Amino acid sequence: MEKSITILAIESSCDDTSASIIKDRKILSNIVANQEVHEQYGGVVPELASRAHMQNIVPVVESAVKAAGINLNDLDAVAYTKGPGLMGSLLVGSSFAQSLSYALNIPLIGVHHMQGHIMAHFIKDDKVKNSPEFPFICLTVSGGHTQLVLVKAVDDMEILGETIDDAAGEAYDKTARFLGLPYPGGPVIDKLAKLGNPKFMQFTKPRTEGLNFSFSGLKTNIIQKVNKEEKLNPDFKKEHLNDICASVQKTIVDILIGKIKDAIKQTGVSRVAIAGGVSANSALRAELEKRETGKNGWDVYIPSFEYCTDNAGMIAITAHFQYLKKDFISRTEGASARLKSRI
Ligand code: KG4
Ligand code: ZN
Repeated sequence: MEKSITILAIESSCDDTSASIIKDRKILSNIVANQEVHEQYGGVVPELASRAHMQNIVPVVESAVKAAGINLNDLDAVAYTKGPGLMGSLLVGSSFAQSLSYALNIPLIGVHHMQGHIMAHFIKDDKVKNSPEFPFICLTVSGGHTQLVLVKAVDDMEILGETIDDAAGEAYDKTARFLGLPYPGGPVIDKLAKLGNPKFMQFTKPRTEGLNFSFSGLKTNIIQKVNKEEKLNPDFKKEHLNDICASVQKTIVDILIGKIKDAIKQTGVSRVAIAGGVSANSALRAELEKRETGKNGWDVYIPSFEYCTDNAGMIAITAHFQYLKKDFISRTEGASARLKSRI
């Protein structure tokens, strides 16, 4: 029998401090500490994020180890998010991981955050439906990225298209800020949208070449249209908040689904997965589920909520596959805010 592999992974690229223990492909623990300090600012404040990571990292790792029921000496490797992300935040995770790998004298693994989001589909867990077969299309939508990726193998991914300006999550967050809603805006708009009329307002969908996305024009369009209505009725935002949210949500989901359709046409691949924070969105999930049926139905893979938004479980599963290939990193390499895609 092959020896099992146990890895501790740390994710600290943005505003959540997370640690996870994985044994082979099974997640034993996945602890996430959210940083509420940013809510009042309508976005992540980098300096506050890195300070909060410093406070959280030791207790979060301790909880992950305890919840997994393992001992530090059981670890075969330590992994961390190398990038992309906020430099100060990444450095907290990378320094911690470097020191631990040195103290325990075990290999260190640097993981690409976006690859991690996609790899969450390969966790073996009651909460994860079957992993997709290759090749599949993955729509990776987070606060910083929006990409359509053709995943040909664990280590062979091709970006088919990506955003040329704002990410889908950013469109949610910036719209929420304009509407006076707290950060992160995605979950709040998602919740209010369920109570509103998605046909209440029509927003202009951007025209972008091929499989690329653009969301900054949409944000401007939303602001202009709502401001115009407010001139006629100063309480417009307040009176129609749910309807505005539902209309914004419908527009964003229509754009995403439209591009997935184009990607399927272009590649002939109809296995579709979603990943990243926005994949927690209820309307996106429902639209995809609808397309599972019928003669030309898609094969849809939706991660459980725990593995959508930033978490160390997704870093741990990616590290597991890197470990198998002995894809280790030196203890002096550190982090990279604009880490080039490994995809
Ligand atoms: O992947 P993630 O946790 O962090 C990044 O790597 O950016 O994604 C965070 C983004 C935020 O923009 C947040 O508003 C969005 O995901 N998000 C959602 C939902 N939950 C989180 N967007 C729409 N609907 C949701 N339910
Ligand atoms: Zn992310």
